[in-house]
Amino acid sequence: MEYRFLGKSGLKVSELALGTMTFGREASKEESSKMLDLYTSEGGNFIDTANVYSEGKSEEIIGEWLRGKDRDSLIIATKVRFPTGKGPNDVGLSRKHILSAVEHSLRRLRTDYIDLYQFHAWDSLTPLEESLSTMTDLVDQGKVRYFGVSNFTGWQLQRTVDLVREMGFTPLVSVQPLYNLLDRYLELEVLPVAMNEGIGVIPWSPLRGGWLTGKYRRGMAPPEGTRIGTAEKYGWSEAWSRYNNERTWRILDKLLEVSKEVGREPSQVALRWLLQRPGVTAPIIGARNMDQLKVNLGASGWKLESKYIESLTEVSELELFYPYDFVMNAQKRR
Ligand SMILES: NC(=O)c1ccc[n+]([C@@H]2O[C@H](COP(=O)([O-])OP(=O)(O)OC[C@H]3O[C@@H](n4cnc5c(N)ncnc54)[C@H](OP(=O)(O)O)[C@@H]3O)[C@@H](O)[C@H]2O)c1
Repeated sequence: MEYRFLGKSGLKVSELALGTMTFGREASKEESSKMLDLYTSEGGNFIDTANVYSEGKSEEIIGEWLRGKDRDSLIIATKVRFPTGKGPNDVGLSRKHILSAVEHSLRRLRTDYIDLYQFHAWDSLTPLEESLSTMTDLVDQGKVRYFGVSNFTGWQLQRTVDLVREMGFTPLVSVQPLYNLLDRYLELEVLPVAMNEGIGVIPWSPLRGGWLTGKYRRGMAPPEGTRIGTAEKYGWSEAWSRYNNERTWRILDKLLEVSKEVGREPSQVALRWLLQRPGVTAPIIGARNMDQLKVNLGASGWKLESKYIESLTEVSELELFYPYDFVMNAQKRR
């Protein structure tokens, strides 16, 4: 496992982070603990969760597993923003909600500090100064080590960086966006801001919930019991109806072709493509069981040749729309 600096910070994280959204949902407590053991035994040190995953069970499972472990060798990331109850203050990035959510996360995680505390998404109803000053206080109190955000648009990310700079708030070290071969929108705005400002990028859903594992085929219904087979029912964004289109199948054909040529699993090639993209620090791998995790950890320790990176990049190129097409054409003519 290689280690990379998280943005401009001095923190070194393993190049594969472990996502724990399946903990307490698809994966039992026992299976989840085994996955944590395997991941750390392979050199992984970066564990991502959120206060809302399985209504807190994901944090609880990590907390129980942490007992007797070398806490300081691990980087635990969690998030705040989405509803934790029905009350008017049980949601958002207000001082009140952040301060209560952090205490609940610390208790469930059985730790006295969070390494990376992330705003799970923008909150347009709370002044940004209020959220950022609260995060700064948490860092000053030693409850949080580093500050990150997730699901921000480009202007939201830049606004945060600028306000942090102007007001001397705790620096922003990472952004956690959706990024994979099928979803490359962040390359338009978020990635340029992150690269320009030295912010680490830790992509979520690097296999788009299973789409990029090679187990789905044109014209076939997604198997029962898989994330994609369930997504429609719960309205999850990786649903079959959203991705069952020519662009997806074109990308998957190329992914399967490259995997065959290099003798690796499609998921390993898809993760490798992401790992070698400019600006990316550490994709957050997800798995429902040990077998999947073993395969996905196999994305570490080798390089995908540039000709394969290029062909995958080409086949998954975004169709540009205004103003991006206009800007690109104007730039080409210059
Ligand atoms: N910030 C956010 O808003 C946000 C949102 C989502 C996720 N996240 C973070 O990102 C992490 C990863 O997201 P994700 O779970 O969507 O990642 P993902 O890797 O795109 O999808 C994981 C799912 O794909 C299938 N899969 C994975 N590896 C496989 C393999 N080798 N063979 C066959 N199937 C395989 C499994 O589902 P099936 O077995 O059901 O097919 C698994 O649960 C999460 O745990 C969480 O920490 C953050």
